[in-house]
Amino acid sequence: MKSVRAILPTALLLAWMPWTGWAATYNAASAGWADVSNALAQAPIVIKFSHVVAKDTPKGKAAEKFRELAEAATKGRVKVEVYPNSTLYKDKEELEALQLGAVQMLAPSLAKFGPLGVKEFELFDLPYIFPDKAALDRVTDGPIGRDLLKKLESKGLLGLAYWDNGFKVMSANKPLRTPADLQGLRMRIQPSKVLDEQMRAVGAVPQVLAFSDVLSALKGGLVDGQENTASNFYTQSMYTAQKYLTVTDHGYLGYAVIANRKFWEALPGDLRSLLEVALLDATDHANSIAAQRNAEDLQAIKATGKTQVLTLNPAEKLAFKKAFLPVHRAMADRIGADLIKQVYAATQFDPKAWG
Ligand code: LMR
Repeated sequence: MKSVRAILPTALLLAWMPWTGWAATYNAASAGWADVSNALAQAPIVIKFSHVVAKDTPKGKAAEKFRELAEAATKGRVKVEVYPNSTLYKDKEELEALQLGAVQMLAPSLAKFGPLGVKEFELFDLPYIFPDKAALDRVTDGPIGRDLLKKLESKGLLGLAYWDNGFKVMSANKPLRTPADLQGLRMRIQPSKVLDEQMRAVGAVPQVLAFSDVLSALKGGLVDGQENTASNFYTQSMYTAQKYLTVTDHGYLGYAVIANRKFWEALPGDLRSLLEVALLDATDHANSIAAQRNAEDLQAIKATGKTQVLTLNPAEKLAFKKAFLPVHRAMADRIGADLIKQVYAATQFDPKAWG
């Protein structure tokens, strides 16, 4: 019988093999301590990237693109495992898991950083603050966007990039044509005080729910309606629970790609640089596909025949803009009046020009 000392290296290696992907090349018969330490030295670094949306969404596709590019650039020294659709963690849990190091990367919506204590991110939720994507880009690509990402460092996180999704629609089981149509409706929101205030401004009752719970809450009648991008609406099959959707474009939904700071800073310098380049390329990809994905998914929603898609004429849109405007002032203390002013300057936000 072999002694424990003789079989231990083989046993250790066999236990370790499945997660390194080396099983195919390993010859157990020749294993010894040198093989184990050699193999361990070459074990890939694993990045678990968790997110809550479907694979076929702007974020889902961007995460896959990052995986592809990162693994190719690092020639197998880094393995990226993407966990979509809340399969690993739900909204709140995923941020805790990242801080604890149970996952290494996430891309939560910008509306989810308030509970972490970085309330300034909620500026992205201010209704109608971005007249278009170009205005948004001036904020995310400029000093405001950079300074916001820096604020995450004190929370043990590193802000690496912004990924786009798009402007939001609102849905319910009744047509939403005017702000008054929202009166009394229980509307699912993300955990942002600005979104809470936005719903209250039109007499709706906001209800914070994790993204993974939205469809069942709509089906079970826990909430009457919700707001999201067409892409999230379609890929979560919300058309099975909502008869009407209005293209309000009242708010923006985008993401900050973040990493556990200790993990990222401990990476070998060459690998970190390769990953940063892969992320830049994945970001370009994400931001180039988002608008089209949403436009296609809006058509796909129409094609289901289950949800009627309503658009607003300029006067109807103006009524929503005016109804939501008080939210900006109400949230000035929370976000910072100066910061809001800087964003106004970057986006040329000017309600006086609305007419
Ligand atoms: C939501 O909770 O509605 C979104 O943040 C989901 C997502 O990540 O796009």
